[in-house]
Amino acid sequence: MKKPNFKHNLILAIDTSCDETSVAVMHGDKVLSNLYSSQIELHKQYGGVVPSIAKLAHQERIDSILEESLKRSKITLGEIDAVAVTVGPGLAIALEIGILKAKEVAENYHKPLVAVNHMEGHLLSGLVLRNSKNEIKKETINFPALGVLVSGKHTELVMVEDFGKYKIIGETLDDACGECFDKCGRLLGLGYPAGPAITKFAKENRENIKLEIVHKNTSVLVKGTNISSKREYLLPISMANSGDLNFSYSGLKTAFRDLVAKLPKVDAEITKDLCVVFEHAALLQIINKLEKAIKIHNPKEIWLGGGVIANARLRTLVRKSAKGIKVRFPNSKKLTGDNAAMIGIAGNYQLNQNRGIFTNSSGFKKIDREPNLTF
Ligand code: KG4
Ligand code: ZN
Repeated sequence: MKKPNFKHNLILAIDTSCDETSVAVMHGDKVLSNLYSSQIELHKQYGGVVPSIAKLAHQERIDSILEESLKRSKITLGEIDAVAVTVGPGLAIALEIGILKAKEVAENYHKPLVAVNHMEGHLLSGLVLRNSKNEIKKETINFPALGVLVSGKHTELVMVEDFGKYKIIGETLDDACGECFDKCGRLLGLGYPAGPAITKFAKENRENIKLEIVHKNTSVLVKGTNISSKREYLLPISMANSGDLNFSYSGLKTAFRDLVAKLPKVDAEITKDLCVVFEHAALLQIINKLEKAIKIHNPKEIWLGGGVIANARLRTLVRKSAKGIKVRFPNSKKLTGDNAAMIGIAGNYQLNQNRGIFTNSSGFKKIDREPNLTF
């Protein structure tokens, strides 16, 4: 059990790792403002993020988002204690825009610069508190925690011995879970990113589908049967017998493509059926590995983070598997997807531990070790 000795710094945080230009102002773990400008409209015609377009959009938007974020937080740059910025993983030319801006502010206002790993941000996103007048009593955090990170680029299980002490115990060998949602949804014409649409259709139609687990040779499959049409769909729960904690989503993607290709037509009803069965197969892979990880590593808490955590069924299934272990997850949708508040809280923990900090006294001389990029 650990009572955190937590210093509440005022932090300006920036994330430009992918297709959201986001700037937040945090007071320790509390959000004062967390704004982002989404580029989905610019990228959706290409079915994915185009790095050069992302870079230009970040460049065009960063100043106004920064200004608005400060305005909403009622904090001035002079009052900030530090600037935190995502340094990776992400699109290099997109990250660069945020890093340059963060350096500029830190230099101009003589503040330390904190280099944050984007995945550490997702990992700590469930600890971000809403801004409210009432000071929330600082909760005790019990270690070890098990991080379950499910985003568009990553699918990871991380053991957390303490802040900054992370060990990846399972990760995807190929596609990420969110990426699989997006690619399969695209086949159904659900736009980009397709994760939210699949989740919505699956929720609306779940009660019309009977879901079963079937075993075929060494494979474990989800069988979904439409209760009225009796139509059946089979999709694999990959890596069910892999014996480790790793994930794989390329097999589900291929099986989904083959299933769709074999259907004589894909109308609105069949699209919804497919969403239910796909969602179940994709999420059960995570749940299988989570249950295995709980048995092996005996975590005291489970921390959820990443865009796919917006899927309420995933959160429900995790809570069921947790069997009473405390589950923390982001308290708003804004905190599940990419956002700067999660970078701010990670930056604050780093400041508390003097890790990944660059001082500006003589041109950002490194005063600590390299930023933790072990994710
Ligand atoms: O964390 P994130 O915003 O970006 C990365 O760091 O990758 O995650 C984006 C991913 C996308 O694949 C998107 O389709 C998925 O999160 N996503 C969802 C939902 N909302 C976003 N997937 C399932 N259900 C949702 N409601
Ligand atoms: Zn992310």
